Amino acid sequence: MSITPLQKLDLQEQVIRLKKEKNAVILAHYYQEPEIQEVADFIGDSLELAKKAAQTTADIIVFAGVHFMAETAKILNPSKKVLLPDLKAGCSLAESCPPEAFRQLKEQYPDHVVVTYINCSAEIKTLSDIVCTSSNAESIIRSIPADKPIIFAPDKNLGKYLIEKTGRKMLLWDGACIVHEAFSLDKLLELYKANPEAKIIAHPESEAHILKVANYVGSTSGMLNYVKQSPNNTFIVATEAGILHQMQKDVPQKTLIPAPAKEDNTCACSECAFMKMNTLQKLYNCLEKEDPEITLPEDIMQKALIPIERMLQLS
Ligand code: 13P
Ligand code: SF4
Repeated sequence: MSITPLQKLDLQEQVIRLKKEKNAVILAHYYQEPEIQEVADFIGDSLELAKKAAQTTADIIVFAGVHFMAETAKILNPSKKVLLPDLKAGCSLAESCPPEAFRQLKEQYPDHVVVTYINCSAEIKTLSDIVCTSSNAESIIRSIPADKPIIFAPDKNLGKYLIEKTGRKMLLWDGACIVHEAFSLDKLLELYKANPEAKIIAHPESEAHILKVANYVGSTSGMLNYVKQSPNNTFIVATEAGILHQMQKDVPQKTLIPAPAKEDNTCACSECAFMKMNTLQKLYNCLEKEDPEITLPEDIMQKALIPIERMLQLS
């Protein structure tokens, strides 16, 4: 249910008041609704948000993102209260990798180094040697001695991209992001034909045929920086549409065109239904009630912290 502009302003004022009263910090991903991004203390990609979570002195972290991101914040801050506006805000990549099946694969390849993309559950992180995000994945893979075989999970598209970039052989888990797999190459090429001056930029969770035609491939923050620094004026953006809010703020004079999805939908772009489960109203409710809260067993947090800290040391 949508809210009126007046209700939005009122809710935003209440959120700002509550976060001051409670010494809470709001960390928001670029894919969140603009009205949430506007009240956030920090907006970033998954690596930047993990770093902010590790550094914060706030008593409460409200994570405006998806479940694995809030879980990571909790693992980095076991004594703090970490809230997620909607606990059902999951991720198709995280869901594609059930711990028991992953444990069985790992047992078949005991000599492999296990690298997991941060988009996975805390339990999967306990089975990992090192975690990575889209912005540091290439350098994390390069940090692993060349003679060590690698299991990479759960994103097969990012995995294939890393194999191509680094030349490393990796055993890939068969997971994918439903949002980034929704882009249509044919429609993208049609759009490019109509806008030949445009640069195509893509998130590495996209399929190989999309990445092949992209002028730049990188994380959400990487894409933002590319657009800011590029002398070009038009960009076709192949990632979740939420990023366009911050991008357009950064480059108001430039033209940003969302990459088209295979299926026709209302916005002719791709939206992450999980990210969009968080609303301004739910953000207010969770800050007010300090619920829903992320809780994890102590042993899971301790084990999952090790590969996350390894990543942060290398980033
Ligand atoms: P970033 O690492 O760019 O924040 O990507 C996270 C994500 O979930 C992309 O779908
Ligand atoms: Fe997960 Fe894809 Fe949504 Fe990112 S966009 S949170 S990878 S489902």
